Amino acid sequence: MTKSQDALASLRALTGVGRAPPAHHGAGGSPPAPVSETRETTVPLTDFTKLPDYGVLRRMRAVFGGDSALPNLYFIPRSGTMGARIETPEGSKVLFSGYDYLGLSRDPRVVAATKDALDTYGTHAGAARMVGGETRLHGELEESLARLTGHEAAVVGVSGYAINVSVISYLLGKNDLLVHDSMMHNSGVMGGVQSGARRLAFPHNDYVALERILTENRPRAERAMILVEGAYSMDGDLPDLPRLIALRDKHQCWLMVDEAHSYGVLGTTGRGLAEHWGLDPRLVDISMGTLSKSLASCGGFIAGSQVLVDLLRTFAPGILMYSTGISPANAAAARAAVEILLVEPERVARLRRNSAAAASSAATTSSGKRAVIWLINGPFQCQ
Ligand SMILES: Cc1ncc(COP(=O)(O)O)c(C=O)c1O
Repeated sequence: MTKSQDALASLRALTGVGRAPPAHHGAGGSPPAPVSETRETTVPLTDFTKLPDYGVLRRMRAVFGGDSALPNLYFIPRSGTMGARIETPEGSKVLFSGYDYLGLSRDPRVVAATKDALDTYGTHAGAARMVGGETRLHGELEESLARLTGHEAAVVGVSGYAINVSVISYLLGKNDLLVHDSMMHNSGVMGGVQSGARRLAFPHNDYVALERILTENRPRAERAMILVEGAYSMDGDLPDLPRLIALRDKHQCWLMVDEAHSYGVLGTTGRGLAEHWGLDPRLVDISMGTLSKSLASCGGFIAGSQVLVDLLRTFAPGILMYSTGISPANAAAARAAVEILLVEPERVARLRRNSAAAASSAATTSSGKRAVIWLINGPFQCQ
C-alpha cells in the first residue's frame, strides 16, 4: 500500500465511507444502541471531549494532519460562484460535489431577482410569516412550486432538513408506523425518531420486504407512512413509484417522497419522479423538496393537497409555526429559478447528457438519468 492509499483506508475506517451509517446518524431502523462509558472521576461526562465522536474527530484530523499524504478536502473555502470549476486557495478545482444541478445560482435573472428583493425588503423576513414576516414573494414562490410539482399547493420553510423532521413528526405519533427505505436521508429518519412512531427500515428498493413489513405491522398501527427518496442522495438510483403506489393503496398508508435530488433532475421537464414514471404527481400524498439543490437558494417545501398544505402552514411546528420565514431574497432566488426551469427544460436535458457522459467514462453503476452518480475515476467533458 502507498502512503496515500494507507491514509485513505484509515479515513474510510474512521468515517464509515463504504458501509452503513451508524443508527443515530442514518437510516438503520433499530433504535440507537446504548453507549457504555467508563465513568472517570476526574473528567466529568459533561465534558464535550468525552463524547464518542470526539475521538473519531481527533483521529480524522490525524489522518489529514502532519505529514499525511492526504490533503484535507473538507471545508475548503471557495471564491466566486458555483460551477463545474471552483476557485480555492489551492487553485482552480473541478467540482463533483455541487448541488447547483442546473447552474441557476449564477444565472443573471436569478441574481437580479434576488438583488431586487434585497432592495425592496431588506435582508430577512422580519418575523414568523404568520405574524408580520409574510411578503408577496413567499406566496408567489409557493404558487410557482405548486405549478412545478403538479400538486394543488405548496408550503415553504427554512430548510429541507427541518421540513422532513417537522412534517413527519407532525403527521405521525406513537400509535403510528413509519416504514422507510434503509437508504433514507437522515432528516427523514430523524422525523420518524421525533414522531415516536414505530419505525422500521426496509432493505434498499426491496419491495417484497416492504410488503412483508406492511403485512405484519400495518394492522397494529393507526396511521402509517411509507417514506422514500425520489433519487437517492448517495447512490443516485430511483424508487419504483408504481409499486410504491400500489403498496400504499393496498395497505392504506401515506406515501411521502423526498425529491431533494429529483426535482429539476428527473422527467423531461424536471418535474421529478412522477414525471419520470409518466404518472400523475398527485398520486403521491406528500412530496418534499428543497430549494437548496436545483433551485439555487436555501429552504425546503412540501407540495400536496390544499388540505395538507393548510394544515402544515397552520399547525406543523418548524415550518411556519415557531420558525421565521425564509428571507425574501431566498424566496426571490428560488422563484426565479423555478420560473426559468419551467420555460427552459433544455437545462434538464443538458444535465442528463453531462451525467451520462460522466457515467459512461467512469467505473459506475449509474445509468446517467440522474444528477447523483457513482464516479470512481476517469475523465469526461462537461457540455
Ligand atoms: C435527500 C435529502 N433530503 C433532505 C435534505 C435536506 O435539505 P436541505 O439541504 O435543504 O436542508 C438533503 C440535503 O442534502 C437531502 O439530500
